[in-house]
Amino acid sequence: MKILVIGAGGREHALAWKFAQSDQVDEVLVAPGNAGTALEPGVQNVDVPAEEIDRLVALAKERRIDLTVVGPEAPLAAGVVDRFKEAGLKCFGPTADAAQLESSKAFAKEFLSRHEIPTAAWTVVDNVADGMAFANGHPLPLVLKADGLAAGKGVVIAEDERTVKKTLEDMLSGNAFGQAGHRVVIEEFLVGEEASFIALVDGETVLPLATSQDHKQRDEGDKGPNTGGMGAISPAPVIGDELHEKVIAEIILPTARGMVADGHPFTGFLYAGLMVTQTGAKVLEFNVRLGDPETQPILMRLESDLAAALMDTLDGRLDELELQWDSRPAIGVVMAAGGYPDEYRKGDPITGLDLDRPDGIKVFHAGTRLQDDQVLTNGGRVLCVTALGETLHKARGELYRWLPQIGFRDAYYRTDIGHRALARREH
Ligand code: AMP
Ligand code: GLY
Repeated sequence: MKILVIGAGGREHALAWKFAQSDQVDEVLVAPGNAGTALEPGVQNVDVPAEEIDRLVALAKERRIDLTVVGPEAPLAAGVVDRFKEAGLKCFGPTADAAQLESSKAFAKEFLSRHEIPTAAWTVVDNVADGMAFANGHPLPLVLKADGLAAGKGVVIAEDERTVKKTLEDMLSGNAFGQAGHRVVIEEFLVGEEASFIALVDGETVLPLATSQDHKQRDEGDKGPNTGGMGAISPAPVIGDELHEKVIAEIILPTARGMVADGHPFTGFLYAGLMVTQTGAKVLEFNVRLGDPETQPILMRLESDLAAALMDTLDGRLDELELQWDSRPAIGVVMAAGGYPDEYRKGDPITGLDLDRPDGIKVFHAGTRLQDDQVLTNGGRVLCVTALGETLHKARGELYRWLPQIGFRDAYYRTDIGHRALARREH
């Protein structure tokens, strides 16, 4: 079969790399891709941006694509799956209606409350006075979230009332996040450990992928500004067997069933961002796609054929599907451009990519591009160096020993990815 991957990040490089390994796959195209997908054996970039849905449909028809897989949220929210379906093309992901679980935080919270799925106490406001009224009745800190898509940056944890007020003003005026901030969700601050729980979903049928945990903050010790994710591990030891069952029974299945009951059945990767609190796991957010960088370590561990699995899901056979996982843990560390998530440089050459790597280490590209034969930086998150090992401790040791072979100007990475898991377990 021929596969088209939509997107340009590390998640999409990992997807394309995985698809290219399948003996059922003849061709993998990535639109628009990055230098990593350009250089990946069996993978080819096509210069069509992920937002240009008309051109993507035309490309899929012209190249006789059998299966399109969407990486990022923006095209899903814009209805890429609906448009492919109308054109008679197979496209893996939720419709725009179902993608509201991610594209509107208010939609997600209303959904969670209606279906009694555990989440933080919340309200949604469109003016400062209502926001302050909620704040007066709830303990600080409070979490404020712009309703719409804001690339993981639309969340502010306010420690005092002044910050609540200022954030409400900034978001509601449209200055901070434009249209995305015209409604603001305010919610209770949850204490616990975060984990990412991603499942394949088709209507009421669900099949979990391996668990994972990312580190969203930029700096060591999970401090500093929120980013798209600075590194991830799989599995997440915080999700033990018992909790795993509970998450499926109390969160994932009710979500799938609720979406069907509400008239917008979900097909695709459903990502529940969880806070594991003392009273159980609660949903912090939904994403309607794979996480980045969680995908990189997760797919390093997947032994089954992902292309066949996604095709089976679209053909209504998710209930018969089983996925095999490598029992070894994996870890991915993001090399970012200094300054990310704020201002950062682009266009600097990356060295060391051609060097021999130890077995079990793979470098996934994110913000990179190819100019002549040179790989240049082209985004905030530049690379995700990913390693598989007998234990997390060993994988992480190998990774951090080898990683400094790669370099670019002002490269920045955290040296403590996986610290929560390691603190929890003896390795
Ligand atoms: P979100 O985009 O909703 O996942 O929020 C981004 C990050 O903000 C999460 O990964 C958490 O680290 C933090 N966060 C969001 N909501 C809460 C909450 N209710 N309590 C504590 N931390 C939160
Ligand atoms: N790593 C979190 C996300 O993909 O949104």
